[in-house]
Amino acid sequence: MSRQYDIAVIPGDGTGPEVVKEGVKVLNAVARTCGLEFFFKEFNLGGAAYMEKGTLLPDGVLEEMGGMDALFLGAIGHPDVPPGVLETGILLKLRFALDLYINLRPVVLLPGVDSPLKGKGPEEIDFVVIRENTEGAYAGSGGVFKKGTPDEIALQESVNTRKGVERCIRYAFDFCRKRDKKRHLTLCAKNNVLLYESDLWFRVFQEIHKAYPDVDTAYQHVDALCMWMIKNPEQFDVIVTGNLFGDIITDIGAILQGGLGIAAGGNINPEGTAMFEPIGGSAPKYAGLNKINPLAAISAAQMMLQHLGEDQGAGLVQKAVEKVLQDHLVSLEAGRMGHTTSEVGDLVVRYIESPPAKA
Ligand code: IPM
Ligand code: MN
Repeated sequence: MSRQYDIAVIPGDGTGPEVVKEGVKVLNAVARTCGLEFFFKEFNLGGAAYMEKGTLLPDGVLEEMGGMDALFLGAIGHPDVPPGVLETGILLKLRFALDLYINLRPVVLLPGVDSPLKGKGPEEIDFVVIRENTEGAYAGSGGVFKKGTPDEIALQESVNTRKGVERCIRYAFDFCRKRDKKRHLTLCAKNNVLLYESDLWFRVFQEIHKAYPDVDTAYQHVDALCMWMIKNPEQFDVIVTGNLFGDIITDIGAILQGGLGIAAGGNINPEGTAMFEPIGGSAPKYAGLNKINPLAAISAAQMMLQHLGEDQGAGLVQKAVEKVLQDHLVSLEAGRMGHTTSEVGDLVVRYIESPPAKA
């Protein structure tokens, strides 16, 4: 019997549907080539659905998604919806309710992509950020008092639980060992100022390190790490950090690997389901034009295959993406690729079906 997977597809807003379509096309090509079966179920969530029906993420939908093997998300965001509504009502709700406590963001400069850093290539830009994905400043703890008056007080607390920090750091050590490259894990925090939360991260990091003597470690303050990511990215193998710092440093990571046209991420519950997404957002000005780069969504699909244990399929997608980057794309930017969105998807499919001898 072939291996079967139930995949929730959330095309979402803006260019989300276009890039997800190419990701699904690629997954179907992998299924044909590797003898898998994907059962895709589409869910209409996002800003457009919210404007139309007033719904964000109904409990029944959430429950159904929790029982699926993986979720594939395009983008959520709508120019007419105030900031925070869709983010907290859909994206963060999915992360929290499904306990997707790892946000995995590879920062890999693929051959054929121009580095924005002088003198740095694929050898130098090859690391992974593991971001805690359910706590910290994102927990929504705090409040406002005397709003709109000169005496207003706004409190936004960062929540760090021992359990939350520990499971994230343990995952990072494990990941670093399995990745088996430099076996080097950097903790990113700010323990010279955040005396409580960063101290907790630091102590747990040192404690868990004892079980991984084969992994070398380093500590960097987040501000310095931002600088080192640009100056000497080759020093990094795996970085582990909290939710907000992870959010910020992975935008730097995205630009190091060629920008939002290529950067993908996974929101993972290692004991449950996981959600994969291009991290570029909904890019409303390109919606419906067949101009946006689908490679970030295709790379998200590749990460999904890896997560499902489909290494052969993941490898085929990776080689095909590399070939398309090297031989076909003029640029990664929307409208400047030298190809349309659907043509890029077709090219990836072509190389999955007849793999290049050497990518
Ligand atoms: C990300 C995004 C989200 C985040 C936003 C849309 C809430 O920036 O996935 O990095 O801050 O986590
Ligand atoms: Mn972000």
